[in-house]
Amino acid sequence: MEKKRLIIAIDGPSGAGKSTVGRALAKRLGYLYMDTGAMYRAVSLKAEEKGIEPWDEPALSRLVSSIHIAFVARDEETRILCNGEDITEAIRSPEISRLASDISKSRVVRKALVGMQKEMGKKKGVILDGRDIGTVVFPDADVKFYLDADPEERGRRRYRELFEKGMEVDFKKTLQEVIERDRNDMNRSLSPLKRAHDAVLIDSTNRSVEEVVEEMYRVVVEKRRWSEVDYR
Ligand code: DC
Repeated sequence: MEKKRLIIAIDGPSGAGKSTVGRALAKRLGYLYMDTGAMYRAVSLKAEEKGIEPWDEPALSRLVSSIHIAFVARDEETRILCNGEDITEAIRSPEISRLASDISKSRVVRKALVGMQKEMGKKKGVILDGRDIGTVVFPDADVKFYLDADPEERGRRRYRELFEKGMEVDFKKTLQEVIERDRNDMNRSLSPLKRAHDAVLIDSTNRSVEEVVEEMYRVVVEKRRWSEVDYR
């Protein structure tokens, strides 16, 4: 019997490891992986290029209706294209992280991106990572995870990531930015980051990627088994 294909939501603060474990879990399950944060980053990059402020709703509305975001698999990795332009690296700077947190408060931006995410998720067999996946985008997701880690640990991971990309970074500043961004994402009025009541909480502090992925995989297999039981 073919296994039921599920919609899996992974939410949590920045640096908790959502994209690393999300990618690994998707590979193991043969699922599609979608980094929804990259979509907010893509809009932010284009807004910055055009000099649009995060509170300018009419300009943001025109912007989101003029851009097309696509995830394409290339050489074993996923590239992010915006109107055909490869922006995978450009969206990872600290400036775009800050801006994305502000632009994600916009009603028109959220409405447009959530619409695209719902469309992409329809295919099933998909893992989406973000802040509002289990609460707003797919409140009926088959499996929901809330991935967390200590702020210090998340700051260290972010620092390492930027350092390895050759950027000049300061640990204290990076930690401060991570804390600041979480506060912003958790306290905004529209779709703030919070744990869905039915999300499985996983703390990745002091745990390897493999351990976390293994735990998530077991939860998924168990859920899938139950969802395939015929109660008639
Ligand atoms: O996951 P990330 O750090 O790449 O996300 C960048 C910003 O986008 C984050 O600070 C909040 C916002 N975001 C959001 O509001 N909703 C999502 N589903 C994903 C990201």
